[in-house]
Amino acid sequence: MEYLLSMADAKEEIQEILDIALKLKSGEIKEKPLKDKFLGMIFEKSSTRTRVSFEVGMHQLGGTPLYLSSNDLQIGRGEPISDTARVLSRFLDCIMIRAKSHETVAELIKHADIPIINGLTDKEHPCQTFADLLTIKEYFGDFNRKFVFIGDGNNVCNSLLLGAAYTGMNMTVACPMGYEPDEEIFALAQEEAKQTGSDINIEHDVHKAVENADILYTDVWVSMGDEEEAEERQRVFNEYQINSQLLSEANDDAIVMHCLPAIRGQEITGDVMTSSQSAIWDQAENRLHAQKAILYMMLKE
Ligand code: CP
Ligand code: NVA
Repeated sequence: MEYLLSMADAKEEIQEILDIALKLKSGEIKEKPLKDKFLGMIFEKSSTRTRVSFEVGMHQLGGTPLYLSSNDLQIGRGEPISDTARVLSRFLDCIMIRAKSHETVAELIKHADIPIINGLTDKEHPCQTFADLLTIKEYFGDFNRKFVFIGDGNNVCNSLLLGAAYTGMNMTVACPMGYEPDEEIFALAQEEAKQTGSDINIEHDVHKAVENADILYTDVWVSMGDEEEAEERQRVFNEYQINSQLLSEANDDAIVMHCLPAIRGQEITGDVMTSSQSAIWDQAENRLHAQKAILYMMLKE
């Protein structure tokens, strides 16, 4: 895997990355192979989990992370991303970037000659999907499950669709009309699902969607950058809340997941977040193990 822009770039390596993550988590892999390696972390948007998991993970693997807010870089003053890519390639061993636009990361990849990792764009969030697949593997032992994504068919949902297709997991997206996932990614996921035998579909009726579900997953209704649509979105997504009633309509041993940050009372209720069926906090912890596995895989010599 030379770079990770889309979950599609990791198709061949998913199982290996998950295995490495489990071994890093259990302590079976103890080595610190990234000594003398430098990771630049560029952020054009806020972050808690992505920043801290990559920063701590890089240290734990023996390397050095550098936090680079785009406001403090010359990118913020108009230096082209191509020049930034060329120069940073000479100082660093890898860049993780959270960008407003997917094209910014594609442009960075085009002009850099070090590995680039997408730490969230408007289109995908592959690093999150790795932590999510790791969590599902830990809870259920396999991917032979029904996964229901409830809410906005946005970046998190898009990467999960590919993750589900590649691991053979059935996935239903329960979203309002007009908030479906990216068309190209959905089509690719359906195509890939034919190979792995999983069923990928969209269902606008959230109650139908959660029948026989093993995993209920949600994300915020108002993503970073969508703030101007906040009022409209709260109205449109009103029915798509994970609460105890909706959870009771899924399988008895169903788990609840959320990429976080969460807005209690909108996409999820507080009681569900802290209930015995919540996998949310393990999922958040798994960002660390999953991100370390990606760094290990890409940078270990
Ligand atoms: N889930 C996630 O990416 O969280 P942050 O925005 O806090 O990094
Ligand atoms: N869809 C959310 C995910 C945050 C991790 C956003 O883009 O803001």
